[in-house]
Amino acid sequence: MNVTKTCNEFEAKTKKAESDRQSELKAFDDSKAGVKGLVDAGIKKIPSFFVDENDKPISSDDDGNNNNNSRFSFPIIDVKGVNDVASRSEIIGKVKTASEEWGFFQIINHEMPVSVMNEMIERVREFNEQDADVKKKYYTRDPSRRFQFKSNFNLYTAPAAAWRDSVTCVMAPNPPDPQEFPDVLGYVDITFEYSKYVMKVGHTVYELLSEALGLNPSYLKDIGCAETMLLASHYHPPCPEPELTFGNRTHVDIGLLTILLQDQTGGFQVLHQNDWVNVPPLVGGLVINVGEFLITNDKFKGVLHRALVFKEVPRISVAAFLKPHSKDIGDNARVYGPIKGLITEEEPPLYRDTTYKEYETFYLSKSGDGKPKLPYFREQTNLVVQPNIHKLPPALRMGSQNPSRVVKPPLEQTTPYGRAELPKRPIDKPSSTEESSVKYPFIGYSP
Ligand SMILES: [Fe+2]
Repeated sequence: MNVTKTCNEFEAKTKKAESDRQSELKAFDDSKAGVKGLVDAGIKKIPSFFVDENDKPISSDDDGNNNNNSRFSFPIIDVKGVNDVASRSEIIGKVKTASEEWGFFQIINHEMPVSVMNEMIERVREFNEQDADVKKKYYTRDPSRRFQFKSNFNLYTAPAAAWRDSVTCVMAPNPPDPQEFPDVLGYVDITFEYSKYVMKVGHTVYELLSEALGLNPSYLKDIGCAETMLLASHYHPPCPEPELTFGNRTHVDIGLLTILLQDQTGGFQVLHQNDWVNVPPLVGGLVINVGEFLITNDKFKGVLHRALVFKEVPRISVAAFLKPHSKDIGDNARVYGPIKGLITEEEPPLYRDTTYKEYETFYLSKSGDGKPKLPYFREQTNLVVQPNIHKLPPALRMGSQNPSRVVKPPLEQTTPYGRAELPKRPIDKPSSTEESSVKYPFIGYSP
């Protein structure tokens, strides 16, 4: 057998298959009609780029119809009375337990009126179910557009696409001009109203998380965790083959905190002790989870989650992602690490310092692989020397580590930032070439 010839033929076939796939993706994207457009066209089988043979919804304890038989019950926390001394400590205890054990919880009786939540869902439905030609003018991947409608922020890079169309918009600190919003009755008003309330809820949750971590109530807000809010509304049309794809593929969230509103359809699942557990849709419920970048030195962890789709009905969700301020993306980006107030001699930092830009670029370069990304930033004891945080202005030391742990590097290993050359970046970290070729906008992605 001519091994070289066989290898060359295999390589040619692989390249052809990838080229065909990219052509299919581009044709889908160019239609500007999204997944809903495929459904409206009457497809009976879903395109192969929505299928990952290694990751399908059906498992031994999941019948693909949102009726899995998990041993666990998802934590639900009633935050009524959060400002009463007596009930607050009990609520904080529940938040602490849920954050430690699940990384997720659902709150009820919070600041957001149910009427606002319901209207937000209905306006998202109305936007997505209007005529495709009307929606097309908003379909874009142009980062300069503040209001973006598109299908799959990582369409061309993920191993498989998710069954969803999304609208994304950064609503804080500087919301877009209302003129940029679609001409759907009430869409702009409810988006601003919803954003106002979701920020209130976010502040309350940050207070609870701060106290659950043993910090003062304003700690997380004070270090800038609530500065930016991206609102992402997802519409998952009915799917002819729900057993083959997902509405949202397995992932951890990229930001600091996510507040999720889901409709009453269900389908949202969280991985807990190797079990996919359904998050029950509750009237008035908001699902909370910590993003990976809230680096609590493993006290609270970002946890894998996903969303199923259904054959007969659409599913709608609205996610608010609280993230660092956009100024953290540029050259003067603040340095983040395990939250300083949690670091002691007994509990040294488990992760190295980084910037949101570095983390975000890495996250997006690996988007869709179904794995947490923070482990790539784990400290490598005896190999990495602490950056010299004293050379940075105080404002740039947001979550910096305990200065007492800074190890003075040998002279030949010193860099301008005090980090030893060995190794600069963790194993499997994208090379500088890969990094520079990935041009993702700050807005527009929605894990
Ligand atoms: Fe998520």
